[in-house]
Amino acid sequence: MTGNIAVGKPFLKWVGGKRQLVPIIKRYMPTQIRHYYEPFMGGAALFFDLAPTSATLSDVNDELVNCYQTVRDAPKQLIDALRTHYYDKDYYYHMRNLDRDRDAFAALSCVERAARLLFLNRTGFNGMYRVNSKGQFNVPFGRYSNPNIVNEEGILAASEALQHVTIQHSPFELMAAQAVPGDFIYFDPPYVPLSDTSYFTSYAQDDFGYADQVRLAETCRQLAEKNISFIASNSYCDAVKELYQPFEFAEIKARRSINASGNGRQPVSEILIWHKAQ
Ligand SMILES: C[S@@+](CC[C@H](N)C(=O)[O-])C[C@H]1O[C@@H](n2cnc3c(N)ncnc32)[C@H](O)[C@@H]1O
Repeated sequence: MTGNIAVGKPFLKWVGGKRQLVPIIKRYMPTQIRHYYEPFMGGAALFFDLAPTSATLSDVNDELVNCYQTVRDAPKQLIDALRTHYYDKDYYYHMRNLDRDRDAFAALSCVERAARLLFLNRTGFNGMYRVNSKGQFNVPFGRYSNPNIVNEEGILAASEALQHVTIQHSPFELMAAQAVPGDFIYFDPPYVPLSDTSYFTSYAQDDFGYADQVRLAETCRQLAEKNISFIASNSYCDAVKELYQPFEFAEIKARRSINASGNGRQPVSEILIWHKAQ
Protein backbone atom coordinates (compact mmCIF):
# COMPACT_ATOMS: atom_id res chain seq x y z
CA MET A 1 0.00 0.00 0.00
CA THR A 2 3.00 2.33 -0.01
CA GLY A 3 4.85 4.33 -2.61
CA ASN A 4 2.04 4.67 -5.16
CA ILE A 5 1.38 8.38 -4.86
CA ALA A 6 3.29 11.63 -4.94
CA VAL A 7 6.13 11.94 -2.47
CA GLY A 8 5.44 14.84 -0.16
CA LYS A 9 7.46 15.91 2.85
CA PRO A 10 6.37 17.44 6.15
CA PHE A 11 5.41 21.01 5.24
CA LEU A 12 5.48 22.15 8.87
CA LYS A 13 8.33 22.20 11.36
CA TRP A 14 6.93 20.37 14.38
CA VAL A 15 8.36 19.80 17.84
CA GLY A 16 8.89 16.06 18.18
CA GLY A 17 8.97 15.67 14.38
CA LYS A 18 10.09 12.16 13.48
CA ARG A 19 11.93 12.61 10.19
CA GLN A 20 15.31 11.48 11.49
CA LEU A 21 13.80 8.36 13.15
CA VAL A 22 11.67 7.18 10.25
CA PRO A 23 14.19 4.54 8.98
CA ILE A 24 14.35 2.98 12.46
CA ILE A 25 10.58 3.07 13.02
CA LYS A 26 10.03 1.34 9.67
CA ARG A 27 12.06 -1.68 10.83
CA TYR A 28 9.37 -2.50 13.40
CA MET A 29 6.38 -2.06 11.09
CA PRO A 30 4.40 -4.84 9.44
CA THR A 31 5.25 -5.24 5.75
CA GLN A 32 1.60 -5.29 4.59
CA ILE A 33 -0.79 -2.58 5.81
CA ARG A 34 -4.44 -2.26 4.80
CA HIS A 35 -4.98 1.21 6.28
CA TYR A 36 -2.50 3.55 7.98
CA TYR A 37 -3.54 5.65 11.01
CA GLU A 38 -1.54 8.47 12.64
CA PRO A 39 -3.58 9.97 15.50
CA PHE A 40 -0.99 12.47 16.82
CA MET A 41 -0.11 13.71 13.37
CA GLY A 42 1.95 16.88 14.10
CA GLY A 43 4.29 17.12 11.08
CA ALA A 44 3.28 13.55 10.04
CA ALA A 45 6.83 12.59 9.04
CA LEU A 46 6.18 8.83 8.95
CA PHE A 47 3.03 9.32 6.85
CA PHE A 48 4.88 11.39 4.23
CA ASP A 49 7.72 8.90 4.07
CA LEU A 50 5.41 5.91 3.58
CA ALA A 51 3.00 7.72 1.23
CA PRO A 52 0.22 5.22 1.95
CA THR A 53 -2.69 5.11 -0.49
CA SER A 54 -5.18 4.44 2.31
CA ALA A 55 -4.71 6.53 5.44
CA THR A 56 -6.31 8.59 8.21
CA LEU A 57 -4.50 11.39 10.05
CA SER A 58 -5.86 13.16 13.12
CA ASP A 59 -4.95 15.53 15.89
CA VAL A 60 -6.67 17.56 18.62
CA ASN A 61 -5.12 20.81 17.40
CA ASP A 62 -7.86 22.30 15.20
CA GLU A 63 -5.58 24.91 13.58
CA LEU A 64 -3.27 22.08 12.52
CA VAL A 65 -6.17 19.97 11.22
CA ASN A 66 -7.57 22.94 9.28
CA CYS A 67 -4.11 23.54 7.77
CA TYR A 68 -3.81 19.92 6.54
CA GLN A 69 -7.34 19.99 5.11
CA THR A 70 -6.56 23.24 3.30
CA VAL A 71 -3.27 21.90 1.91
CA ARG A 72 -5.23 18.88 0.63
CA ASP A 73 -8.27 20.73 -0.75
CA ALA A 74 -7.19 24.27 -1.69
CA PRO A 75 -3.39 24.35 -2.20
CA LYS A 76 -3.43 27.08 -4.87
CA GLN A 77 -5.62 29.43 -2.82
CA LEU A 78 -3.35 28.75 0.15
CA ILE A 79 -0.23 29.63 -1.86
CA ASP A 80 -1.89 32.87 -3.03
CA ALA A 81 -2.80 33.74 0.56
CA LEU A 82 0.76 33.02 1.72
CA ARG A 83 2.13 35.46 -0.86
CA THR A 84 0.45 38.32 1.04
CA HIS A 85 2.56 37.60 4.17
CA TYR A 86 6.04 39.00 4.76
CA TYR A 87 8.90 38.65 7.21
CA ASP A 88 8.78 41.55 9.65
CA LYS A 89 8.67 41.61 13.44
CA ASP A 90 5.67 43.95 13.86
CA TYR A 91 3.75 42.11 11.18
CA TYR A 92 4.54 38.78 12.88
CA TYR A 93 3.07 39.99 16.19
CA HIS A 94 0.05 41.44 14.39
CA MET A 95 -0.65 38.02 12.77
CA ARG A 96 0.15 36.12 15.95
CA ASN A 97 -2.22 38.22 18.04
CA LEU A 98 -5.23 37.84 15.73
CA ASP A 99 -6.40 35.03 18.00
CA ARG A 100 -6.72 37.47 20.95
CA ASP A 101 -9.98 38.69 19.39
CA ARG A 102 -12.25 35.64 19.15
CA ASP A 103 -14.86 37.22 16.89
CA ALA A 104 -12.27 38.55 14.42
CA PHE A 105 -10.52 35.18 14.40
CA ALA A 106 -13.75 33.30 13.80
CA ALA A 107 -14.38 35.53 10.78
CA LEU A 108 -11.19 34.34 9.04
CA SER A 109 -11.66 31.84 6.21
CA CYS A 110 -10.14 28.34 6.42
CA VAL A 111 -7.52 29.40 3.85
CA GLU A 112 -6.62 32.55 5.85
CA ARG A 113 -6.26 30.50 9.05
CA ALA A 114 -4.10 27.91 7.31
CA ALA A 115 -1.89 30.61 5.77
CA ARG A 116 -1.52 32.25 9.20
CA LEU A 117 -0.39 28.97 10.77
CA LEU A 118 2.15 28.31 8.01
CA PHE A 119 3.42 31.89 8.22
CA LEU A 120 3.85 31.67 12.02
CA ASN A 121 5.51 28.27 11.65
CA ARG A 122 8.07 29.68 9.17
CA THR A 123 8.83 32.91 11.01
CA GLY A 124 8.27 32.15 14.71
CA PHE A 125 11.04 31.08 17.09
CA ASN A 126 12.31 27.58 16.14
CA GLY A 127 9.05 26.82 14.26
CA MET A 128 7.44 26.02 17.58
CA TYR A 129 3.70 25.67 18.10
CA ARG A 130 2.73 26.67 21.62
CA VAL A 131 -0.43 28.18 23.05
CA ASN A 132 -1.22 29.58 26.49
CA SER A 133 -4.06 28.45 28.76
CA LYS A 134 -6.50 30.60 26.74
CA GLY A 135 -5.49 28.85 23.54
CA GLN A 136 -3.61 31.93 22.27
CA PHE A 137 -0.48 31.34 20.19
CA ASN A 138 2.44 32.67 22.24
CA VAL A 139 5.67 31.85 20.38
CA PRO A 140 8.02 34.86 19.97
CA PHE A 141 9.34 36.18 16.65
CA GLY A 142 12.20 34.10 15.19
CA ARG A 143 15.43 35.33 13.58
CA TYR A 144 16.03 33.97 10.09
CA SER A 145 18.04 35.32 7.17
CA ASN A 146 15.46 34.60 4.45
CA PRO A 147 12.58 32.38 5.58
CA ASN A 148 10.75 30.51 2.82
CA ILE A 149 7.23 31.65 3.69
CA VAL A 150 5.48 30.44 0.55
CA ASN A 151 7.13 26.99 -0.06
CA GLU A 152 5.00 26.47 -3.15
CA GLU A 153 6.66 23.21 -4.20
CA GLY A 154 6.35 21.68 -0.72
CA ILE A 155 2.65 22.56 -0.44
CA LEU A 156 1.80 21.17 -3.88
CA ALA A 157 3.69 17.90 -3.22
CA ALA A 158 2.08 17.51 0.21
CA SER A 159 -1.32 18.23 -1.32
CA GLU A 160 -0.82 15.41 -3.85
CA ALA A 161 0.19 13.01 -1.07
CA LEU A 162 -2.89 13.96 0.97
CA GLN A 163 -5.46 13.61 -1.83
CA HIS A 164 -7.09 10.38 -0.65
CA VAL A 165 -6.37 10.83 3.03
CA THR A 166 -9.02 11.33 5.72
CA ILE A 167 -8.01 14.17 8.05
CA GLN A 168 -9.89 14.31 11.35
CA HIS A 169 -10.07 16.64 14.30
CA SER A 170 -10.34 14.03 17.03
CA PRO A 171 -8.64 12.59 20.11
CA PHE A 172 -6.57 9.45 19.64
CA GLU A 173 -9.18 7.06 21.11
CA LEU A 174 -11.69 7.84 18.37
CA MET A 175 -9.20 6.97 15.70
CA ALA A 176 -8.02 3.81 17.43
CA ALA A 177 -11.65 2.66 17.65
CA GLN A 178 -11.87 2.71 13.83
CA ALA A 179 -8.99 0.29 13.25
CA VAL A 180 -9.48 -3.38 12.32
CA PRO A 181 -7.00 -6.26 11.92
CA GLY A 182 -4.69 -5.62 8.97
CA ASP A 183 -4.45 -1.90 9.83
CA PHE A 184 -1.47 -0.18 11.45
CA ILE A 185 -1.43 2.73 13.90
CA TYR A 186 1.58 4.90 14.71
CA PHE A 187 1.19 6.74 18.05
CA ASP A 188 3.55 9.67 18.59
CA PRO A 189 2.04 11.42 21.62
CA PRO A 190 3.47 14.27 23.66
CA TYR A 191 6.06 12.40 25.74
CA VAL A 192 6.11 11.51 29.44
CA PRO A 193 8.43 14.15 30.97
CA LEU A 194 11.89 13.12 32.11
CA SER A 195 11.90 16.15 34.42
CA ASP A 196 9.40 18.92 35.16
CA THR A 197 11.29 21.42 33.01
CA SER A 198 11.35 19.11 29.99
CA TYR A 199 7.57 18.76 29.90
CA PHE A 200 6.83 20.32 26.52
CA THR A 201 3.19 19.47 25.89
CA SER A 202 1.41 22.71 25.02
CA TYR A 203 0.69 21.87 21.37
CA ALA A 204 -2.99 22.37 22.11
CA GLN A 205 -4.86 24.03 24.91
CA ASP A 206 -5.27 20.87 26.96
CA ASP A 207 -1.98 19.38 28.05
CA PHE A 208 -1.38 15.68 27.67
CA GLY A 209 -0.95 14.54 31.26
CA TYR A 210 -0.25 11.27 33.02
CA ALA A 211 -3.92 10.20 32.93
CA ASP A 212 -3.80 10.57 29.12
CA GLN A 213 -0.64 8.44 28.99
CA VAL A 214 -2.43 5.73 30.98
CA ARG A 215 -5.41 5.84 28.60
CA LEU A 216 -3.09 5.59 25.61
CA ALA A 217 -1.31 2.52 27.03
CA GLU A 218 -4.73 0.98 27.73
CA THR A 219 -5.80 1.72 24.15
CA CYS A 220 -2.66 -0.08 22.93
CA ARG A 221 -3.52 -3.13 25.06
CA GLN A 222 -7.01 -3.21 23.55
CA LEU A 223 -5.57 -3.01 20.03
CA ALA A 224 -3.23 -5.92 20.73
CA GLU A 225 -6.16 -7.94 22.07
CA LYS A 226 -7.92 -7.31 18.74
CA ASN A 227 -4.67 -8.31 16.97
CA ILE A 228 -4.13 -4.85 15.43
CA SER A 229 -0.53 -3.74 14.81
CA PHE A 230 0.80 -0.53 16.31
CA ILE A 231 3.99 1.28 17.22
CA ALA A 232 4.13 3.88 20.00
CA SER A 233 6.94 6.37 20.60
CA ASN A 234 7.65 7.92 23.99
CA SER A 235 10.49 8.88 26.34
CA TYR A 236 12.74 6.07 27.43
CA CYS A 237 12.09 5.86 31.18
CA ASP A 238 10.83 3.43 33.84
CA ALA A 239 7.37 5.05 33.96
CA VAL A 240 6.80 4.32 30.27
CA LYS A 241 8.21 0.79 30.47
CA GLU A 242 5.81 0.08 33.34
CA LEU A 243 2.83 1.56 31.49
CA TYR A 244 3.44 -0.63 28.44
CA GLN A 245 4.10 -4.00 30.05
CA PRO A 246 4.25 -6.63 28.61
CA PHE A 247 4.89 -5.23 25.11
CA GLU A 248 8.19 -5.55 23.28
CA PHE A 249 10.23 -2.35 23.17
CA ALA A 250 13.54 -0.93 21.94
CA GLU A 251 15.68 2.02 23.03
CA ILE A 252 16.63 4.37 20.21
CA LYS A 253 18.68 7.59 20.14
CA ALA A 254 17.27 10.85 18.78
CA ARG A 255 18.62 14.37 18.42
CA ARG A 256 16.16 16.78 20.01
CA SER A 257 16.02 20.46 19.13
CA ILE A 258 13.75 21.56 21.98
CA ASN A 259 14.86 20.82 25.50
CA ALA A 260 14.69 23.22 28.41
CA SER A 261 17.88 21.84 29.99
CA GLY A 262 20.00 23.85 27.55
CA ASN A 263 21.92 20.88 26.13
CA GLY A 264 18.95 20.32 23.84
CA ARG A 265 20.87 19.18 20.78
CA GLN A 266 22.47 16.18 22.52
CA PRO A 267 21.05 12.77 21.59
CA VAL A 268 18.36 11.58 23.99
CA SER A 269 16.93 8.10 24.40
CA GLU A 270 13.45 7.37 23.13
CA ILE A 271 11.45 4.20 23.35
CA LEU A 272 9.59 2.36 20.61
CA ILE A 273 6.90 -0.03 21.79
CA TRP A 274 5.17 -2.31 19.31
CA HIS A 275 2.72 -5.07 18.66
CA LYS A 276 2.94 -6.87 15.32
CA ALA A 277 -0.24 -8.76 14.48
CA GLN A 278 0.22 -12.50 13.84
C1 LIG B 1 4.91 14.74 19.28
S1 LIG B 1 3.71 15.56 18.31
C2 LIG B 1 3.64 14.51 16.93
C3 LIG B 1 4.85 14.63 16.03
C4 LIG B 1 4.64 13.98 14.66
N1 LIG B 1 4.56 12.54 14.73
C5 LIG B 1 5.71 14.42 13.67
O1 LIG B 1 6.40 13.57 13.06
O2 LIG B 1 5.89 15.63 13.50
C6 LIG B 1 2.26 15.28 19.23
C7 LIG B 1 0.94 15.73 18.62
O3 LIG B 1 -0.13 15.22 19.44
C8 LIG B 1 -1.22 16.13 19.44
N2 LIG B 1 -2.10 15.79 20.58
C9 LIG B 1 -2.01 16.17 21.88
N3 LIG B 1 -2.97 15.60 22.63
C10 LIG B 1 -3.69 14.80 21.79
C11 LIG B 1 -4.82 13.91 21.94
N4 LIG B 1 -5.40 13.74 23.13
N5 LIG B 1 -5.27 13.23 20.85
C12 LIG B 1 -4.71 13.42 19.63
N6 LIG B 1 -3.66 14.27 19.41
C13 LIG B 1 -3.15 14.94 20.47
C14 LIG B 1 -0.57 17.47 19.47
O4 LIG B 1 -1.45 18.48 18.98
C15 LIG B 1 0.69 17.24 18.57
O5 LIG B 1 0.43 17.62 17.25
